[in-house]
Amino acid sequence: MFKKMKLNYSSLEPVISDLNLDLHYNKHYGKYVDNLNKLLPNYSGSVESILMSIDSFNKKDRGSILTNVGGVLNHELYFRSMSSEPYTNNRLVSDLFKQYGSFDIFKSEFINSANKLVGSGYTFLVYKDGSFDIINLPNQENPYTYNYTPLIALDLWEHAYYLTYYNDRALYINNFFRIINFDYANTLYEKIK
Ligand SMILES: [Fe+2]
Repeated sequence: MFKKMKLNYSSLEPVISDLNLDLHYNKHYGKYVDNLNKLLPNYSGSVESILMSIDSFNKKDRGSILTNVGGVLNHELYFRSMSSEPYTNNRLVSDLFKQYGSFDIFKSEFINSANKLVGSGYTFLVYKDGSFDIINLPNQENPYTYNYTPLIALDLWEHAYYLTYYNDRALYINNFFRIINFDYANTLYEKIK
C-alpha cells in the first residue's frame, strides 16, 4: 500500500499559507496516493520502481499510472524541496555557483524558466551527464522519464499558490527562493556524484 510521505515542517508561513499547504498536501497530493492504491492495490514495490518498469503494466492503464506516479513523485520532491529552516553551505550550492557563475545568476535563470511555464506543470533543477539544467515539464511529467535526475521541484499548478498569492504567480516563484531546502537537494546530488 502506498502511503503519504511525512512533512518535516508544520508551517511555511508566510511564503505559503497554512491553509494552502494543508489542502495541497492532504487533498491534492493525497489524491494521487489514493489513486495509485486504487490502480495498483497489490503492488508492493516503490513508486519509483513503477516508473522504471512501466512497460510491464497493462497498456490501457499506463497513461493513468504514469500520471499518478508523476503526481506522487513530483509532489514528494516539491514538499521536500522546501524547509522552514535555513540551509547550510554545501557541495550542491558551490557547484551551482561554479556552473552558473554566481548564485544570483542561477536564481534568475530558475525564476525566468518558471515564469515561462504555460498552464500547469513544474520547474525542476535537474542533473544529467555532469551538469545542471533547469527544465519545465507539463502536468505530472517526471524528469526521470527523460533520464534527468531531479534535485529541486517547484509546483506551478494553480493549487500550489492561489490561496496565498491569488493570481500573482511571479511573487510565489520569487518567494520560493526564501524556503528552498538546498540541504535536501544536496543529499540527492551527493548520491549521484
Ligand atoms: Fe500540486
